[in-house]
Amino acid sequence: MKKITVPRLGEMKKQREKIVMVTAYDAATANIIDEAGVDIVLVGDSLGNVVQGLPNTLSVTMDEMIYHTKMVSRGVKHAHLCGDMPFMSYQASKDDALRNAGRFIKEAGAESVKLETNEIYLDTVYSISKAGIPVMGHIGLCPQSVHIMGGYKIQGREDKEAKRIFELAKSVEDAGAFSLVLESIPKELAERITESINIPTIGIGAGPSCDGQVLVINDLVGLSPEPIPRFVKRYANLRKVMTKAVRDFADEVKEGQFPSVEHSFN
Ligand code: KIV
Repeated sequence: MKKITVPRLGEMKKQREKIVMVTAYDAATANIIDEAGVDIVLVGDSLGNVVQGLPNTLSVTMDEMIYHTKMVSRGVKHAHLCGDMPFMSYQASKDDALRNAGRFIKEAGAESVKLETNEIYLDTVYSISKAGIPVMGHIGLCPQSVHIMGGYKIQGREDKEAKRIFELAKSVEDAGAFSLVLESIPKELAERITESINIPTIGIGAGPSCDGQVLVINDLVGLSPEPIPRFVKRYANLRKVMTKAVRDFADEVKEGQFPSVEHSFN
């Protein structure tokens, strides 16, 4: 399989080939995802929720993102690898943003960075991409703004907000982003954006018209505890499978059935 590059992702939009993006946080899982043939592996700052057990993504640090992206890069051969800029790694200044985006590439083996984008960060998107680092924008529900939003709510339901998001999508493209995540917005708005811009849109809770779709791996394979958001589809129930395996092991140990002769040395 050929390596997925930024130009290839642009081609996929033109050819109307859907783009598949999945998150990963460690080498073993990244390797399974890569071998399954996904196009983009994202080391998301969802790391905070699904790996670190935190209520939100706000305390994830740059060093933690670099640590996990390094691990993931060892498991990925075919997919494009994108690292997610954590809260306060790009907000304080453009210099911070450039330095931290550079760390993803130089230290961790990422091939692009994603940043939650509003009007204030268009210049930052421009500067990072002009420095040679491809940028994936992220608009709609931006989890790093959870306190401003007052929770994780669908964005762009009202006309004024929908217009703002629509215009922001165009501005993110103009600033030089190579792709754009649309999170938790009405499907009609996502469709209008997808038809109006030339870079691929990747949806999560944004309906079927986006150029691609992304899910968090723990949600996709059914490792996340309830409740799960409405936009998640579970393709397996690994939580059930793992619980049974661990219970069976515990029962066999308690009953003296494990290890048997076959699992012991002479
Ligand atoms: O952090 C993350 O995993 C994300 C994706 C859900 C897009 O931002």
